[in-house]
Amino acid sequence: MKALILAGGAGTRLRPITHTRAKQLVPVANTPILFRGIEAMVEAGITEIGVVVGDTRAEMRAAIGDGSQFGSDVEVTYIEQDAPLGLAHCVSIARDFLGDDDFVMYLGDNMLEQGLVAFVDAFAAARSAPRPPSAQILLKQVKDPQRFGIAVLDDHGHAIQLVEKPEVPPSNYALVGVYLFDKSIHEAVAAIEPSARGELEITDAIQWLIDHDLKVRTEILTGWWIDTGKLTPLLEANRLILETIETRVDGAVDGASFLDGRVIVEAGAEIVNSTIRGPVAIGARTRIVDSFVGPFSAIGADCEVVHSEIEHSVVMDGSKIIEIPRLEDSLIGSDAIVSRSKRKPRAVRLMVGDHCRIDIE
Ligand code: DAU
Repeated sequence: MKALILAGGAGTRLRPITHTRAKQLVPVANTPILFRGIEAMVEAGITEIGVVVGDTRAEMRAAIGDGSQFGSDVEVTYIEQDAPLGLAHCVSIARDFLGDDDFVMYLGDNMLEQGLVAFVDAFAAARSAPRPPSAQILLKQVKDPQRFGIAVLDDHGHAIQLVEKPEVPPSNYALVGVYLFDKSIHEAVAAIEPSARGELEITDAIQWLIDHDLKVRTEILTGWWIDTGKLTPLLEANRLILETIETRVDGAVDGASFLDGRVIVEAGAEIVNSTIRGPVAIGARTRIVDSFVGPFSAIGADCEVVHSEIEHSVVMDGSKIIEIPRLEDSLIGSDAIVSRSKRKPRAVRLMVGDHCRIDIE
């Protein structure tokens, strides 16, 4: 079995961060979102991984490399997509890489609590049954089905209808961004037309399989699942991953500081006269001075937090937070400076890039 990871697309809902960074490489608990997907593939025994890349191809190549950081037998093949023409378009341009093999398709901005082993094994087992499925989809009941692909199931739990982001959802079973296919998906992808939003939808290709009497197996996801493409779900994913960390202190913590709960302090980091209340991750070479870092915060590498309080936030590499009495629910990009000066007259002085959001108390 092969894997196809989709890491192209536009990322407009996470601007301004995605003006300079791929949405799939935004860190959650200090690890890029996409890395967790790749790790889940490798854990499921898949080593031939195709990565669909778009405008952020250079950044993707720099971050993932040849894949050997995920395992010595992992081989990554990059598949270039000129424009984000849809998830099914990704399958069609990956045809040479995929050949006639079964494959897992994984949306690079999705995060799942569970690994992929059980889903991959269930598909492999079902494939040796008398009437094997051609596809397997993962579903999760959601409160906002208009935002997702939606499946209607029959009494046996088989998918009978799929619709992409319906205005009037026929069910609340959302399609999670992990799909398993056999080679019949290629015929389906070749047969469908672009949707109203101009994309070749994988949802339509799976509907084509159903309409041609091919079996589409479903699995209901029990653990959490987050489509991280927006700020609130991203902070939620950061919180859920931080919930699972174990304490590890490789940096320096002075006698006036207090680490409370589960905290990671990476090598070269320094905690000076500060309280860190976990779960929190502090990146390599970061300095926290006279500050409080509260639960569900991930501070990247080479940051400085001085005389400030931060909680439930992600601060990316190289940023400085200086004299800020309270920062909450925030996503700070890399090499940013957020500071309070004593200059008179007192004023908010900003240099704000395109599509930024600033919420002042
Ligand atoms: O997150 C689950 C949902 O993902 C499903 O419920 C929907 O049925 C499915 O269509 C998809 O919807 P989104 O609108 O959230 O997909 P998005 O445009 O965010 O793309 C998902 C990933 O695939 C993302 O990492 C970007 C990448 N992508 C997307 C497109 C359209 C590509 O690499 N190429 C593309 O052409």
